[in-house]
This record gives sequence, C-alpha cells and structure tokens, in this order.
Amino acid sequence: MQRSKIAGIGYYVPKNVFTNSDMMKYMDTSDEWIQERTGIKERRFADRTGETTTTMGVEASKIAIERAGITPQDIDFIVFATLSPDYYFPGCGVLLQRAMNMKEIGALDVRNQCSGFVYALSVADQFIKTGMYKNILVVGAEKHSFGLDFSTRGRNISVIFGDGAGAVVLQPTDKEGQGILSTHLHSDGESAEILAMYNPGTHANHWVKDPVAKFDDAEMGAMFMSNAMVDEAQNFPNMDGPAVFKKAIVKMPEVVEEALAANNLTTADINMLIPHQANLRIAQFVQQKLQLKDEQVYNNIQKFGNTTAASVPIALCEAWEQGKIKEGDLVCLAAFGSGFTWAGALIRW
Ligand code: UT7
Repeated sequence: MQRSKIAGIGYYVPKNVFTNSDMMKYMDTSDEWIQERTGIKERRFADRTGETTTTMGVEASKIAIERAGITPQDIDFIVFATLSPDYYFPGCGVLLQRAMNMKEIGALDVRNQCSGFVYALSVADQFIKTGMYKNILVVGAEKHSFGLDFSTRGRNISVIFGDGAGAVVLQPTDKEGQGILSTHLHSDGESAEILAMYNPGTHANHWVKDPVAKFDDAEMGAMFMSNAMVDEAQNFPNMDGPAVFKKAIVKMPEVVEEALAANNLTTADINMLIPHQANLRIAQFVQQKLQLKDEQVYNNIQKFGNTTAASVPIALCEAWEQGKIKEGDLVCLAAFGSGFTWAGALIRW
C-alpha cells in the first residue's frame, strides 16, 4: 500500500509576545511559579481582532503549500484540527478553503484538542493510502487568548496556553521505506469532564451536576449559552491539572512504545520525538520514561506555551527548520489531552 509523506511544513505564531510578567498584570501569579511548574517563559497572543484561528492556519498553510512545491488550487482535501474555532459552526476548514481560494474540495474539522493534529494526520494518511487524494492539507491552529479566564480564578489554565498554527501537506511517496509508518489513536471518555469547556453545549447538567449552570434561570432557547452561564464563568475551560498530568505521563510513553513495537523498532531508533507541548515537566517525564537523550526530544513550550492542536506541527516544523530532522530520520509524534484522547505517529522522514 502506498505510504504518505510530509511534502511541506510550515508554522505561524502571532507577533505579540505575552510574558509571565504580563500575566501578573491580570492575576495573582508569578514568573517563578509558571516557569517552575510548566517551563513556560512567554507565549504569543493573536491580534485581538485582526487574527483568527483560521487566518493563522492560512499563514502556516501558505508556507507548507509553497514548500511542497504546489499551489492552494492543487490541494484536494483539508483536515483542520482546533478547539478554538472562529465560529461554533461551520468549522475552520471551510473558512480556510474560502480564504485560500481553493477548489470545491472536502473540508473536515477535527475536535480532538491536544491530540487533534495527530488524529488529523492519521485521517489524512488513510485517504492517501487508499489513493483517494494526492495533496491533503492538515492544519492545527488555536486562538486560545480569546477565550480564557484571565482573573486569578482561571490562573491554573490561562498561564499555560498560547496561540499559533502549524500545517503540513501530505502526498503519496514511492520512496522505499519513507513516509508515515503508522498512527495509533486512543480515547478514554471516563474523565471527559476533567478537562472540558461545558458551554456552549447541550449537556443540560446531564453529566456534571455541579457547578454547571442552573437551567431554570436560562431563557427558553438561550440554554446553549445563557447570561447566567457567563455570570458564573462557565464559558471558560475547566481543568483538574494534576489529574491530567498523571494520566499524560503514562499514556504518552505508552503510545510511543506501541508505535515502536508495531514497526519492530526501539527507542534507540528514534531520531526525534516531538511530544505535544502541554507542560515541559510532562515532556521531561516522557523523555525519562523512554530513556531518550536530550538530542532525541524537541521542546519549544518555553517560548510558545501550550498551543494545543498547533503544538505538534509548530514544534515539528521548528525542529526541521533547525536541521534537527533530516531525510531518513525516524520521527515520532505523541500527544495527550482533553477527552481523554491520545495519539502517536511514526514517520520515516
Ligand atoms: O494540553 C492540555 C492538557 N493539559 C495538561 O497537560 C496540563 C497538565 N497539568 C499541568 O500542567 C499542571 O497540573 C499545571 C501546570 C496546570 C498546574 O501545576 P500543579 O503543579 O499541578 O499545580 P496545582 O494545580 O496542584 O496547584 C498548586 C498550587 C495551588 O495552590 P494551593 O492550593 O496549593 O494553595 C494553586 O492554587 O498552585 C496554585 N496555582 C497557582 N499559583 C500561582 C495554580 N495556578 C497558579 C498560577 N500561579 N498560575
């Protein structure tokens, strides 16, 4: 069966640097706390009105498409991963299709949060393998800064996230041994509410009894997102950080081991692991568990924060641009996040 390869890759981060000291203007936190617990020094925030998740995705896509040696009109399918879409619906895929003047191709949005890009890559890989498409654009992008609680109440979440986008073009390859070797997708919905944004939504307190909105207070037809919900800050994400951390440091190494075993490879064969940039401490645990050397792992959370669906392609692109990934290298992607969902991919570059 024909494998797919990453034919072009690009990333975009907004110009606006938001440091830990900037965070301190809004909430009770400190540079020391943020760096010690997460490794983050600064992150980028999108221009409030001038940039959206889609426009950042477009900027990353332009670079990926150019590097693949094709034009936007050659793209025959879009897979767009994000948890912070421009609209609740329709998704960012169609907005990107419009913004880039693409043909009337299919556009699919993936809502798998931190593992979204690896899931999206896996979906695209299947379409290439079956021969259905030849040039698939896979995008991961987030504009978190527009929807976070910057008061002290939201500090455990708001300090970790940043904005940005990454994109790749997948094409079939005839080169022996090259391309995506395998992808591995998992979920465990048992802890879905541990890292979630409940509203807007239709849950009607079905899953979470407390402290979700009192629906009696909501106007008929306004229960998706009522004034009461906003008053109670239920339009912001919730996270039990330590619980997510504990699960991530188990599942991320596990999915890497699974991918290696599926291809009869070992951790010594990995040239570069790109872990989802959730927290530098998580990446360090994963590295330690897999006994990887520093030069086998790439991290850039220090300057970009956690960009969720964008973190893996941004880090992958940066590592490649710095010459840390070369043709023939074995590259491993691993991500874990809300859902919980987690995923891994092995690529022979
Ligand atoms: O990519 C999506 C998936 N998400 C993740 O992978 C996140 C995984 N979890 C984490 O990265 C960490 O749990 C956090 C960085 C979010 C939090 O670090 P932690 O070491 O687990 O801290 P904690 O939540 O247990 O809080 C410890 C203390 C608390 O104070 P008390 O109760 O001990 O007095 C918090 O109120 O730190 C306090 N705290 C803060 N203090 C200053 C929480 N956030 C902050 C803050 N600044 N920003």
